[in-house]
Amino acid sequence: MLTIALPKGRIAEETMGLMSAIFESEFKFESRKLILKTENFTFLNVRNQDVPTYVEHGAADLGVVGLDVITEQELDIVDLLDLQIGKCKVAIGIKEGDELDWSRPDIKVASKMVNITKNYFASKAVGVEVIKLYGSIELAPLVGLADAIVDIVETGATMRENNLKVAEDIMESSAHLIANKNSFFEKKSEILELYKLLQKAIATSEK
Ligand code: PRP
Repeated sequence: MLTIALPKGRIAEETMGLMSAIFESEFKFESRKLILKTENFTFLNVRNQDVPTYVEHGAADLGVVGLDVITEQELDIVDLLDLQIGKCKVAIGIKEGDELDWSRPDIKVASKMVNITKNYFASKAVGVEVIKLYGSIELAPLVGLADAIVDIVETGATMRENNLKVAEDIMESSAHLIANKNSFFEKKSEILELYKLLQKAIATSEK
């Protein structure tokens, strides 16, 4: 029996779609239910940023989570497989019409991804003040809270509709299958069996 933590919403649905195709039976959370038990799996429906917590503590053997979250939280887990779903990028956004002079000494950048932001600017030897927000990041430059943002861009619609543009891309992201380190040791054959089936299903769906 494997316990798998899935992030609420589209990624959970797409992962369940892959699992349904592999095992030829329907995997679907009932509305508002947070646990789904099948013959071989228990699925947990959790908040995106909480997936790593369930996996790191061993409450879930496996989890599905964005590479952006794995990078941001510097997790002590096994990164098993890129599921090729939930593709997006992490990018720097600034106001349409702005050209930022990164050598300015007092640049403020708002983001919920504080570590990715700090590491990126440090790697460029650019000094910035990072302001932590929990959502609606695109608002920050519009009201003068920050000069720029670091955020997820999927379709680009949110930035566009708020008169922002991408200044630089930081990283590509997609949903990855991760494993708890002890589970990977103790349930290795079960995990690798699922890993291979998922790998095959992804290769088929890409054709
Ligand atoms: C993310 C991100 C952007 C938006 C980008 O937020 O923070 O606001 O999606 O998508 P787009 O390029 O397709 O417009 P999300 O909806 O995931 O909510 P969150 O605030 O919980 O991260």
